[in-house]
Amino acid sequence: MTDLSHPLTAGVHLRPAMLDDAVSFAEALTRSRAYMKRWEPVRPEAFYTPEGQTRRLTALLADRDAGRAMPWVLADADESVVGAMTLAAIELGPFRNARLGYWIDVDRAGRGLATAAVGRVCEDARDRLGLHRVEAGTVVDNAASQRVLTKSGFEVIGTAPRYLHIDGAWRDHRMFQRILHDGPPQR
Ligand SMILES: CC(C)(COP(=O)(O)OP(=O)(O)OC[C@H]1O[C@@H](n2cnc3c(N)ncnc32)[C@H](O)[C@@H]1OP(=O)(O)O)[C@@H](O)C(=O)NCCC(=O)NCCS
Repeated sequence: MTDLSHPLTAGVHLRPAMLDDAVSFAEALTRSRAYMKRWEPVRPEAFYTPEGQTRRLTALLADRDAGRAMPWVLADADESVVGAMTLAAIELGPFRNARLGYWIDVDRAGRGLATAAVGRVCEDARDRLGLHRVEAGTVVDNAASQRVLTKSGFEVIGTAPRYLHIDGAWRDHRMFQRILHDGPPQR
């Protein structure tokens, strides 16, 4: 099983997201807004407020409780948010698949945090959630994100034309998958 108590790097650990993270999410997303702009949907102003993050987290945690999502936070020693990883669209049955999304605070990028956290999230997806496959899509020129996925054992499966509305336009995406195991479904 994934050892969540073990830090990813000095001072930063991975833990499930909580409603109480809303203020810290709003601060980190505001701090990182310009940095993430090229790779993110255009968000309403409310997204960058504690109230907007409370609404987002309430919906996300309801999805988690229904088994459809698993939202993670990368947190500092004082529990402030410095990044996030989200498994969404979790599906069981013969598919046992989820979509992975992530971001790292502008002040913490380039230190291996995303790579360490993606590895940990995939272990948990395999060992606890019983998933077989995780998929992720990046804008075709998001080289940093593609590097994270490649380092984390993902393979390119193709290019999806006009896949997501990112930074104001429908952008072509490079699609990745990681097969987590080749055994039969566990449950
Ligand atoms: C993409 C992102 C999550 C990476 O987080 P991170 O913690 O900096 O990632 P890591 O440090 O684990 O690894 C980054 C890798 O990309 C490489 N990299 C960074 N910028 C790069 C660039 N412009 N071109 C090529 N490689 C780049 C780094 O050198 C590193 O690879 P290395 O270990 O072989 O040197 C972060 O930059 C981010 O949040 N970006 C904005 C939001 C985003 O793009 N989210 C993903 C959407 S699919």
